[in-house]
Amino acid sequence: MALKKLIAGNWKMHGLFADLDQVREIAQESQGYPSVDVALCVPAILVERAVRAAPGFAIGGQDVHHAEKGAHTGCTSAVMLLDAGASLTIVGHSERREAQREGDADVRAKAQSALSVGLNVILCVGETLEVREAGRAVETVMQQLDGSLPADLEGEAELAIAYEPIWAIGTGKIPTSPEIAQMHSAIRSKLHDRFGDAGGQIRILYGGSVKASNAEEIFAIVDVDGALVGGASLTASDFIPIVQAAANSG
Ligand code: PGA
Repeated sequence: MALKKLIAGNWKMHGLFADLDQVREIAQESQGYPSVDVALCVPAILVERAVRAAPGFAIGGQDVHHAEKGAHTGCTSAVMLLDAGASLTIVGHSERREAQREGDADVRAKAQSALSVGLNVILCVGETLEVREAGRAVETVMQQLDGSLPADLEGEAELAIAYEPIWAIGTGKIPTSPEIAQMHSAIRSKLHDRFGDAGGQIRILYGGSVKASNAEEIFAIVDVDGALVGGASLTASDFIPIVQAAANSG
């Protein structure tokens, strides 16, 4: 049976007080699509205000430090996000893997830390264009998963994987449907190998230039259980049609 789709927005470093109007609108319009889980991952400083603006709607962060507390200037721990009202967080986004030099071991520690306090996790993986052109995309993503998947899935919090080809992020380019299908099926097998039956319940999101015009085609692919959406998640008018496409995909 198909898993309930999750459409998560990643606001990246966008979002001021005035943008809470979009949070409210997205939260409200999402109620029209109860067959889809919808969430917005906003900058850490906006989390608490977004939660207050849209009570009951899933608000997340975009990263956590792996430690609970300590001498880590400028960082946010999982328990802090939780304390601010977040219910999920992204970890291992390629922009952080690249700019903050986060490796697979860091990503695993972050995922474990978040899951252990009860935050749902969206763990990102994805290959560069060079790797895809060299025919090593699946192999590379499998290695990333080997290094960054948490050791176990104990506890209530939910893990999701986001497959985000780096060359598709913010570029308007997306892989072909067979390429997405091949990668998602490889990720599903890996999750089964690692977690047994529980691996079949982990949602695998596609991310990278998802918009209203391509969402329907992407959601028709087997083992695409939702999307992580950057640019098109900033306004309700761009984001809600993607949620609607997920609802229509059954
Ligand atoms: P995009 O970003 O939808 O703007 O391509 C996706 C992401 O980086 O999560």
